[in-house]
Amino acid sequence: MPPLLLVALACTPRPDPLTPAELRDPESCAECHQDHVQEWRGSRHALASTSPMFQALSAAAEQDLGNRDLCLDCHGPFILDEHAGERGLDLDSFDESMRGVNCYFCHSIDGIEEMHNNGLTLADDGVMRGSIDQPLDTPAHKSTYSSYMDRRSPDSSAACGSCHDVMLGDGVFFERTYQEWSETLFAEEGEPWALGCNDCHMDGSDGVIAQVEGAPTRRVHSHMWPAVDIPLRDNPETEVQVAAVQKLLQTTLWAELCVVQYDGGALATVTLENLSAGHGFPSGAAQDRRVWVQVRATKDGEVLYESGVVPPDRAVGSIDDPDLWVMQNHLYDAEGHETHTLWEAVSYEAAVLHGATAVDPNDPDYVDTHAWKTYGLGATVPDTVTVDVYMRPMTYDIIDLMIERGTLDPAMRDAWPTWEVLPRTLVWTADLGQECVE
Ligand code: HEC
Ligand code: HEC
Ligand code: HEC
Ligand code: HEC
Ligand code: HEC
Repeated sequence: MPPLLLVALACTPRPDPLTPAELRDPESCAECHQDHVQEWRGSRHALASTSPMFQALSAAAEQDLGNRDLCLDCHGPFILDEHAGERGLDLDSFDESMRGVNCYFCHSIDGIEEMHNNGLTLADDGVMRGSIDQPLDTPAHKSTYSSYMDRRSPDSSAACGSCHDVMLGDGVFFERTYQEWSETLFAEEGEPWALGCNDCHMDGSDGVIAQVEGAPTRRVHSHMWPAVDIPLRDNPETEVQVAAVQKLLQTTLWAELCVVQYDGGALATVTLENLSAGHGFPSGAAQDRRVWVQVRATKDGEVLYESGVVPPDRAVGSIDDPDLWVMQNHLYDAEGHETHTLWEAVSYEAAVLHGATAVDPNDPDYVDTHAWKTYGLGATVPDTVTVDVYMRPMTYDIIDLMIERGTLDPAMRDAWPTWEVLPRTLVWTADLGQECVE
C-alpha cells in the first residue's frame, strides 16, 4: 500500500459500533442525540425506579407481598430481569443503563404479548427502532423502521399502552389509560380526529435528530413526557418539566360558571369538560391523584360560601365539606373498605371526567364529557363568585400512610406541588346577571 493512502485512512477513523453494554447506557447516545438524552433525564420514564413515592409504595408492597416484582415490571424492567424475587434492593444503586424506562428499552420493542402489565417483547439485537424509514447509516448502531414507534400506526399507542394499563387479580384494570383511550374517538383509525398517545405526548418540531455531519432536517419529537409528576429530587430538568406540565394541564379542561339568583338566595353551577385528554381525567394512577373544585362566594369582601378550600398540608378528602367535588379513582379491598394500595384492591369506582367517545350526541357510543355540580350559595346574593380547579399528583392520605409504615422519609411530606388546572380563575360578578363566564 502506498504510504499516502495509509495516512488518509488514519485521518478518517471509523468509530466502533456501540457495544451491547454501551447501547443500554443513555450516556452513550448523548454524543449524537444530546437533546433526547437531556429531556429523557427529567422525564418520568427516567425517574420511574428512583421516584421517592415509587420507592416508598413498592417497599410497602414488598412488606406485604414478599417482593416488588409486580411494581418493577413497568417501573424498572431491566432491574427486574436481573433481580426478580429479591428483597431489600437499593433502587438508587442502579445506573441509567438499568433504571426506569430507558432509550434501549423503548427503541428495542418488537412485539406485544399482552396489552397490560408490560407485555412487551424486546429484540435485543442492537438495532435501534424508530419511525424513520431510511435513516442515515451510522457506525454507532444499526437502525430500522418499526410501527411500534410510528405515531401513524395504532401499534405505537399499543406499545405505550402495554405499560399504561395495570391489571390485577381477576382481570380488573386498576389503571387503564390505554383502555380508556381505545374507547375514545381518538382511537378511530383513519378518521381525521384520530390521535395516538404520541401525537399528544411527544410534540414534534423541525431539526436534526443526530448531531452528525450531513444530517437532514426531520421531525424531532420531545422526550419529556410531561403530564402530572415532576422530579422531586435535584434534577437540572425540573424547571422545564414544571413549565411543560403546567402548560399541558391548562389546556385540558373547559370550564363554565353560571350564577342564578332567586327569592331564596343564589345558586352557582360549575360545568367542566374534558377537552383534550385522550382518555379520562385524571387517568392512570388516578387513585393517587386528587382533582378538585374550589368555589367561593363573597359580598363586599366577606365570605358567604366556600367549598373545596383545602389547607396546603391536608388530604383533600379529610376536610369537612358536604359539597366537595373531587375527581379520582377509588379503590376498595375485599371487605369493601377504601384502600390506597393497588395490591390490596379488588374493585374500583371511577369518579373522573370521561374522554370524548363520539362527536354526535345521537351516536350510541356517545358519553357526555361534561360534568356539572350546583352549589347552594345561601340566602344572601353574593357580588362575586370565583371558581378554581386544582390537582395534586399525590394525596396526603398515601404520603402519611407511607410515613407511618416507615417507607417514606417524613422530610418529603410537603415535596409535591399543587397544580392550577385552569388557565385563570373564573370570576362572576353581579353586573353579569344571568350571563355565564368561561
Ligand atoms: C403496568 C405497568 C405498571 C405496574 C405493574 C405498576 N405501575 Fe406504577 N405506574 C405506571 C404508570 C404508567 C404510571 C403513570 C400513570 C399516571 O401518570 O397516571 C405509574 C405511576 C405510579 C406512581 C405515581 C408516580 C410516582 O412515582 O410518584 C407510583 C407511586 C407508582 N406508580 C407505584 C407503583 C407500585 C408501588 C407498583 C406495584 C404495586 C406499581 N406502580 C405497578 C405503571 C405501572
Ligand atoms: C417511552 C419510550 C421511549 C423512550 C424511553 C425513549 N424513546 Fe426515543 N422515541 C420514542 C418514540 C415513540 C419515538 C418516535 C416518535 C415518532 O416518530 O412519532 C422516538 C424517537 C426517537 C428518535 C428519532 C428522532 C425523533 O425525535 O423522533 C431518537 C433519535 C430517539 N428517540 C432517541 C432516544 C434516546 C437517546 C433515548 C434515551 C435518552 C430515548 N429515545 C428514549 C420512544 C422512546
Ligand atoms: C455516533 C452518533 C450516534 C450515536 C452515538 C447514537 N446514534 Fe442513534 N442515530 C445516529 C444517526 C446518524 C441516525 C440517523 C439520523 C437520520 O437519519 O437523520 C440515528 C438514528 C437513531 C434512531 C432512529 C432510527 C429510525 O429508523 O427511526 C434511533 C431510535 C436512535 N438513533 C437511537 C439511538 C440510541 C438509543 C443511542 C444510544 C444507545 C444512539 N442512537 C446512539 C447516530 C448516533
Ligand atoms: C416499560 C413501560 C412503559 C412504556 C413502554 C411506556 N411508559 Fe410511560 N410511564 C411508565 C411508568 C412506570 C411511568 C410512571 C413513572 C413514575 O412516575 O414513577 C410512566 C409515565 C408516563 C407519563 C408521565 C405521567 C405523569 O405522572 O406525569 C407519560 C405522559 C407517559 N408515561 C407516556 C408514555 C407514552 C406516550 C409512551 C409510548 C411512547 C409510554 N409512556 C411508554 C411506563 C412506561
Ligand atoms: C388527544 C390528546 C391525548 C391523547 C391521544 C392521549 N393523551 Fe394522555 N393526556 C392528555 C392530556 C391533555 C392529559 C392531561 C394533562 C396533564 O396531565 O398534564 C393527559 C394525561 C396523561 C397521563 C397522566 C394521567 C394522570 O392523570 O395521572 C398519562 C400517564 C397519559 N396521558 C398517557 C397517555 C397514553 C399512554 C396515551 C395513549 C394510550 C395517551 N395518554 C393518549 C392528552 C392525550
